[in-house]
Amino acid sequence: MSIKTNEIIDDADHILITRDRIQEKVKELAEIISADYRDKVPVMVCVLNGSFMFFADLVRELRIDCEVDFIKISSYGDAMKSSGTVTIKKNVDCHLEGRDVIIVEDIIESGLSVQFLREHLQKMNPKSIRFVSLLIKQGTAEVDYECEYYGFTIPNRFVIGYGLDYAQKLRNLPAVYLMPNSE
Ligand code: IMP
Ligand code: MG
Repeated sequence: MSIKTNEIIDDADHILITRDRIQEKVKELAEIISADYRDKVPVMVCVLNGSFMFFADLVRELRIDCEVDFIKISSYGDAMKSSGTVTIKKNVDCHLEGRDVIIVEDIIESGLSVQFLREHLQKMNPKSIRFVSLLIKQGTAEVDYECEYYGFTIPNRFVIGYGLDYAQKLRNLPAVYLMPNSE
């Protein structure tokens, strides 16, 4: 399947969440997080690659001091289905012991990535760990996981844009779109 940015960018039929709705939601989430962490200096951890856009928008709206760090994991090949095993491609650089950590995810499907990340980061003895995900897919959880903050729940469809890829492309789309010709 080959679909190009310029073929979908103005395609209203495939838009699931507009740029405006995303920006509103990002502000809302940032307000809640700023209030919950008002006397703290959390380490905001971006889960690469998918959450880079959400992460940049979210931290920009925070009204508290924070640090940023990056972790890269991979569970997807170039397909639309998860491989089921999560591996670390790049670890965090920050010393997380005693810190309040907020992991920023793009989308939760099976919950395996969240479960893996929580276990992995817990070993560094942070004071607290919470997750924020822009999207949560409905009816796809394979494991129990906790996600303290999220933006939208979406149907069980493959989505692209605003950081989310298909075969590493289409991350640059400014909104969240349903992948054409996918069920
Ligand atoms: P999980 O481990 O199954 O919860 O999968 C989470 C990861 O799979 C996300 O961080 C995404 O990178 C990827 N993913 C899941 N669903 C989609 C989708 O619809 N579009 C693009 N990537 C997705
Ligand atoms: Mg991801």
